[in-house]
Amino acid sequence: MDKLLIEGGVRLSGEIAISGAKNAALPILCAALLTKEPVTFTNVPRLNDIGTLLRLLEQMGVKVSRDSDGGTVTLDASGVDNPVASYEMVKTMRASILVLGPLVARFGEARVSLPGGCAIGARPVDQHIKGLQAMGACVKVEHGYVHAKVPRLKGARIFTDMVTVTGTENLMMAACLADGETVIENAAREPEVVDLANCLVAMGAQISGAGGDVIRIKGVPALHGATYRVMPDRIETGTYLCAAAVTGGEVRLTGTSASYLDAVVDKLMDTGCEITIERDALRLKAPARLTAVSLRTAPYPAFPTDMQAQFMAINAVADGTAVIRETIFENRFMHAVELQRLGADIKIDGNMAVVKGVDRLEGATVMATDLRASASLIIAGLVADGETTIERIYHLDRGYEKLEAKLAALGARVRRLS
Ligand code: EPZ
Repeated sequence: MDKLLIEGGVRLSGEIAISGAKNAALPILCAALLTKEPVTFTNVPRLNDIGTLLRLLEQMGVKVSRDSDGGTVTLDASGVDNPVASYEMVKTMRASILVLGPLVARFGEARVSLPGGCAIGARPVDQHIKGLQAMGACVKVEHGYVHAKVPRLKGARIFTDMVTVTGTENLMMAACLADGETVIENAAREPEVVDLANCLVAMGAQISGAGGDVIRIKGVPALHGATYRVMPDRIETGTYLCAAAVTGGEVRLTGTSASYLDAVVDKLMDTGCEITIERDALRLKAPARLTAVSLRTAPYPAFPTDMQAQFMAINAVADGTAVIRETIFENRFMHAVELQRLGADIKIDGNMAVVKGVDRLEGATVMATDLRASASLIIAGLVADGETTIERIYHLDRGYEKLEAKLAALGARVRRLS
């Protein structure tokens, strides 16, 4: 298993480019299943999760072609003959559930393994199933698989019990080819949902309201090919902003935008950072020591749960005490015990973490448990005294493209040990 060695104490400075958004690219690649014409996607991030999904699509019969640097992907789903997503594939990446909606919509049948839980929570998919049933699908869950069948989906009014990002995305894709209009209420408003909607519209879908909590989809007989550019990754952007902030650094991030990060930018300004917003770049200049900032995660446009771990790391060495409340996932504080190994003063009480800033963290060996927890350990390692070794960094490779190269370009002393 690979490890990452970080020598703390370097102020990050310089400029890096932000990659395409993992959580937009994953549903968008699945959208190619909805048409028999080739679809080309650009700005696709080179990440393990993307590779896993492309292998899953190939197993179904999708023809995949990727340019040399991997950023442009063309998918041709005209020859799909196996609408099945096996446990072996789905257990490594739960976002594989996003093939369910498109497969049922285009082929009238799908067998997709239940994703199962992951480190941060049980993560059921009952809302995905409830929505497909509302659209007329006969859905059985047996032997760990979701088996859905229907001659043709019918438009329906769907009200999800809670805001679910991939649930909204799955149902929006399914509704594109349904007979009649589908209305999704209590829909997720995340920018990645909007990016998927824009891609589907480019393929001929009739969708309105994406970005709001009511999305209307008028079913059409077929979708056609298109070329679509994936949006920038707002969580990667926020992660590097936190890395610069905690080291008292000054960085410029290009190929990204602040428009999807208002809640995160506001909180970073509250810590004392100066942030300059350019058309498609962001600059951050940090003070010598940050001021602690409390936060509460919630669905977009509120503070994103995917940035909670990173803010716990910057609060660990900030001036004052911060209260962090995690309202989306039931077990998303596993980074806290690892940060405590580095000397952080954190008390957990249910879904609340009280973080008392300390003067300095001490480098140590820590273990990554999930994608964003790993990012928080990197942020802490960048500012800890001495050397920090992060184990199980395969979690990081799922969501951060060219991680060491980007950190090194900002001056960080970081090495990967295989
Ligand atoms: C998406 O996960 C993201 N993943 C997650 O990012 C992100 O943390 C999450 O949204 C919240 O923003 C992708 O987009 C691929 P949810 P998703 O359905 O869709 C419960 C990362 O680090 N729920 O919005 O799986 C669920 O348990 C990942 O990039 C049900 O109970 O999250 C959770 O408590 C981590 N039943 C809450 O809703 C359902 O049918 C929100 O989950 C669906 C969800």
